[in-house]
Amino acid sequence: MELYVDIADLDAVKAAAEYFPIDGFTTNPKILTKAKKPVEEMMAEYRQYVRANNMKIFFQVTGETAEEMLEQAKALKEYFGERFIVKIPAVKEGYKAVRLCKEAGITVTVTVVHSMMQALVAAKAGADYVAPYVTHIDNIGADGIECVSEMVEVFINGGYPCKVLGASFRTVDQLKKLALAGCQAVTISPDLFDALIKHPSTDESMKGFETAWKETFGEKQISDLIPREK
Ligand code: G3P
Repeated sequence: MELYVDIADLDAVKAAAEYFPIDGFTTNPKILTKAKKPVEEMMAEYRQYVRANNMKIFFQVTGETAEEMLEQAKALKEYFGERFIVKIPAVKEGYKAVRLCKEAGITVTVTVVHSMMQALVAAKAGADYVAPYVTHIDNIGADGIECVSEMVEVFINGGYPCKVLGASFRTVDQLKKLALAGCQAVTISPDLFDALIKHPSTDESMKGFETAWKETFGEKQISDLIPREK
């Protein structure tokens, strides 16, 4: 499963990358409005970081017509290079833009997806990823996990190489169910990463190890028990 951080703050991306096997980070127009520095300043830092760390970076176009979306995608691709993936919204102009971007050799995510049919048409148009907003789907009374599961199923049945990049999460349980459904990628906010690996039973067992070890070996570490070769 590809793992991305859904944030524009590069410090938060670096903090996540220090501990977790992330593949890059995703942004969208709302996320960029929360950036701690002017985005124009951040662009060079983003580029240097993704190049130095072989990471993927996702930016969403803001154009309204397919032609505007294509021009913006081309400019971003030229700046960021091969690791750049454009996010095209699942609107009518966007479906035209998918084809134009693929013809231009740009990797495409169709985003703001809320139904299996939006995803299917995107895959047919050549999208490399579709990004369903799981919590948004839940909040309109549908079933976000089931929707993703249907996308995975129809992509496999139809032989589409398109991957599902799940987005918009509030709980680890959502991510667990998505993984079981075969979702190929997720993008999550930094605060969820620690929750992915946190378990009270692990903490309890570690406390037991520490107590037993200190009772027997005091402050010695395991490496202190290695025989010293003459
Ligand atoms: O990548 C999409 C994600 O940022 C949507 O987030 O907070 O609207 O669920 P949210």
